[in-house]
This record gives sequence, C-alpha cells and structure tokens, in this order.
Amino acid sequence: MRNIVLIGFMGTGKTSTGKLLASRLGYSFIDTDSRIEAINKISISAMFAMHGEKYFREKEVELIRKVSRCHHAVISTGGGVILNPANMVALRKNGIIISLQASVDAILERTSRRNARPLLAQEDRRETITTLLKQRLERYEQANFVIDTTDLSPMQVTDEIISFIRRDVNLHA
Ligand code: S3P
Repeated sequence: MRNIVLIGFMGTGKTSTGKLLASRLGYSFIDTDSRIEAINKISISAMFAMHGEKYFREKEVELIRKVSRCHHAVISTGGGVILNPANMVALRKNGIIISLQASVDAILERTSRRNARPLLAQEDRRETITTLLKQRLERYEQANFVIDTTDLSPMQVTDEIISFIRRDVNLHA
C-alpha cells in the first residue's frame, strides 16, 4: 500500500490531520519531526540552537530516506521538507503527496500557541511567515492534491483527503 505524505508550511495542520487520517484509514502514523526528536533525544528547537539548521536538515534527509521505505503509513513532514529535492523524490516513490495550505493569518494564529518553531522565533513573525511562504509556495504546490485548511477543522480536512483518495487514487498501485 502506498503512503500518504502530508506536506505544507508550519501551522497548516499536518500533524493533527495526519493522526486522524491514519486512524480513519487504519494506517500507521509517522511524524518526521517527532521521530527526529526521539532518535536524537533532543527537541527540534534545541537542535537548531545547539547545532544549527544545516545539522537539522541532515537529520531530516536521513530520516526521510528511511521512512520513505515504509508502506501503509501516513507521514506528516516538517514544513521545510520540500527544500531538498532528494526528500521529495524519495517520498514520491511510494507515496501520494497531499499539500496543506493556509492563510498567513491562520498560520500566525496557529503557530503562536506553542513556541516550538525556531524559524519563526523572530520579532516580526508575520513578515517572516510571508517571506518564507513566498519562497516555498511553488514547491508546496507540487502535490497530487492541494487543500486550503484555513477555514476547516482537522476532521474536515481529513474528510476531504479521504474523498480525494476514494475518487482519484489507487493506493495499491
Ligand atoms: C520547519 C518546520 C517545522 C520543523 C522545523 C523547520 C520549516 O515543522 O521541521 O522547525 O522549515 O518549515 P512543522 O511544519 O511541523 O512545524
């Protein structure tokens, strides 16, 4: 069975939707950031602070290579996974790519609840989000299905993804 891979900017709901989707489909759930934290025994924020972003990206590419070989999994990725084309080649081999999007306001609101995003630890968070989104948008759009989550709950997003899969996807392919 092919994997279902969720990509998208921070705060678009990849983790909460991924968990629901996996449980609805009877798939296992993999959150790549949580795996990186568990394997390296350090939080993402602490990793960025102690070793820098480049080190995190190395850990991320290693993990993506590994989890891409899984089957029957919903994989929620970190927002920067699209920056390295090798990640996307690996994830696409055995996976359907679903891209979650949201407005800058929604992202701002959702990412203000927990202070766990080192890239957003800036004075002007709106400006940072807008700039990063602009740089990344094209890559987030390279997906089998794109969904705007701004006005939807994770449950509604899950329903939309399941309808798409039932309509357009052969998970056995
Ligand atoms: C990042 C997103 C984060 C995490 C890291 C870098 C990014 O994941 O991987 O802080 O570059 O957008 P979430 O999208 O789950 O917040």
